[in-house]
Amino acid sequence: MSDYLATGFTGCDRAADPDVFVRCLRYLAAAPGMRAIKDESLAWLGLVPGDAALDLGCGLGGEAAAMAVRVAPSGLAVGLDASRVMLARAAADAGKTAVRPVFVAGDGAYLPFAGGVFAGCRVERTLQHVPVPGAVLAEMARVTRPGGAVVAVEPDWGAFVVDSSHTAVARRLAEFWCDSFRCGWIGRGLGRLLAEAGLEEIEVVGRSLTLRQLAAAEAVYSLSDTADRAVAAGALPQGAAGSFLAELRRRDAAGTFFSSLTFFLARGRKLRT
Ligand SMILES: C[S@@+](CC[C@H](N)C(=O)[O-])C[C@H]1O[C@@H](n2cnc3c(N)ncnc32)[C@H](O)[C@@H]1O
Repeated sequence: MSDYLATGFTGCDRAADPDVFVRCLRYLAAAPGMRAIKDESLAWLGLVPGDAALDLGCGLGGEAAAMAVRVAPSGLAVGLDASRVMLARAAADAGKTAVRPVFVAGDGAYLPFAGGVFAGCRVERTLQHVPVPGAVLAEMARVTRPGGAVVAVEPDWGAFVVDSSHTAVARRLAEFWCDSFRCGWIGRGLGRLLAEAGLEEIEVVGRSLTLRQLAAAEAVYSLSDTADRAVAAGALPQGAAGSFLAELRRRDAAGTFFSSLTFFLARGRKLRT
């Protein structure tokens, strides 16, 4: 299985180096702009003590842990993920604190829960990797109780920009990266997909994450790896990719590197049974 960030999250357990994926998640979880997006999506769930809540594709479990605090002392937060590597790290991070989530292995398209049990279900940066996002959202709608909320947070890789004077190369690289995802345009479709899953009172907002250091952008957007892959695939000439990357390094040294990605937060409510 590939260690490429655009494709490897569908099978982290089979990666040559699962730490590539763990590092990416830790980097983003610590980025101030991303923290604000995560916190807004947690607030959108409207959880109160005693609720049951699900974070699907929980990764390292940070948001499942935050949900556990919101529903304590009598509620239950569940973090579900397809990767046993991620779940092991999540359980280790949660430690032995009194308020912690329960972690469950599973596929978001076939949730191992009865219908109508969760007051709130959340998914972040996972629908971009699955073959049929609508099937996962339909499952989230099924396990949400009437009156409960389904919240999704996904990027739209068509809204990823890097400041460069090599406009044609930057455009081609962004397109190559976007098209490497199973669902690179998932962000713009979230509201429609929630409605198609039978949810109502749909709200969608866009939030951008700016990264102004090349090291951060490399950790989460794989710029050099993507350039190599685009060259190997014949999508870019070698020299053009080299000049593009060299300019990014110069700008980074001068403190003027700039990249931005738009995330969309979407919420739907289950009104009918
Ligand atoms: C980009 S990570 C995001 C993790 C976490 N939501 C976060 O915000 O840090 C995507 C996660 O989805 C998980 N995943 C991928 N396909 C899945 C599926 N079909 N069902 C459940 N989890 C899945 C991966 O193992 C990974 O932990």
